[in-house]
Amino acid sequence: MLGRVQEFLLILLVVALASWRPTTEASTADVMQHGAAGDGKTDDSKALTFSACNNLQLSGLSHVNSQSAHIHITSSNSVLVSNLYIIAPASSPNTDGIDISHSTDAWIHDSTIGTGDDCIAIGGDSSNIKITGVTCGPGHGISIGSLGHNGNTDIVEEVHVKDCILKRTTNGVRIKTWQGGSGYARKISFENITLDAVANPIIIDQFYCDHKFKCKNQTSAVKVSNVIYKGVHGTSITEDSIKLMCSQSISCSDIVLSDINIVSANSGKPTHAFCSNAYGTNSLSNPLVNCLSIPLTYEGCHPPENCLPPSQSTKFLDFHNVYLFFLSFLLCFSFLNPL
Ligand SMILES: *[C@@H]1O[C@H](CO)[C@@H](O)[C@H](O)[C@H]1NC(C)=O
Ligand SMILES: *[C@@H]1O[C@H](CO)[C@@H](O)[C@H](O)[C@H]1NC(C)=O
Repeated sequence: MLGRVQEFLLILLVVALASWRPTTEASTADVMQHGAAGDGKTDDSKALTFSACNNLQLSGLSHVNSQSAHIHITSSNSVLVSNLYIIAPASSPNTDGIDISHSTDAWIHDSTIGTGDDCIAIGGDSSNIKITGVTCGPGHGISIGSLGHNGNTDIVEEVHVKDCILKRTTNGVRIKTWQGGSGYARKISFENITLDAVANPIIIDQFYCDHKFKCKNQTSAVKVSNVIYKGVHGTSITEDSIKLMCSQSISCSDIVLSDINIVSANSGKPTHAFCSNAYGTNSLSNPLVNCLSIPLTYEGCHPPENCLPPSQSTKFLDFHNVYLFFLSFLLCFSFLNPL
């Protein structure tokens, strides 16, 4: 006879087994049925688009030579993408691997993507996006953006990229925004990123412009804040391996760099960091980053000169210490010279 506790545990086990599905059983699709032609003439749409597909699971697909972006996911929540193999020549234009926008709660993991454009691009109105174990290259790297195109308000937050490898890409981890937009990109982290001969390993580009003509300078911008780069290692083929080019109207704040080691892919060449209008902290960074203008900025307090330094408490402590010193001095004095 089973006791009540054992009975309850048994029922729990049966329910758990009944609701378990091996993830490899996720539905697969023939991309040819979704308009993929691959010749750049017959069809310029994205090879495979998922719009408003909640609880989407994609696994085990191979995509070769899409005519435009390979996989486009939009307006979908709770998305799980894994074990994809996407390949197109480095010279093929606009062949993003995975584009995701207007979506929340997505996890893209354990995939290999080499194309002529972004490996993974995260567009506006996206949050809680996790990318792990993805190998990219060739292509343009992992991008957040481009945001704020045509004056758009774009919002991206909680994007976490971890344990990824970039091989011979033209950017490593990038945040790109157009001038003239609004909204924000915040709470973003890039952790344990391996670089192999990457052109712009760490880059924030708030002057993004893909026109043949130079884009005009504008006074509004998507606000970039709270971006963490932690454990980014490997080689760069450009000297400016860290470029934080933030908007002159709304600076980037709370940029945190730690445990960075990016050396030149060409032995003997140095690497440098360049920042403009970027604020934050860095520790253990090669190249040295001494351009993050002040150690810490506070949300809603820009420009930083307007921020109140925490000097009041320091003054109090100083005064306090002097006071203690005199008190002990007086005590000693009275001991040594008893009346
Ligand atoms: C870092 O990422 C690589 C894959 O790029 C992985 O093999 C390694 O285990 C990760 N390191 C840690 C400490 O998680
Ligand atoms: C636009 O702004 C950038 C950065 O402040 C500056 O380098 C550039 O000269 C400006 N361009 C024009 C056309 O004003």
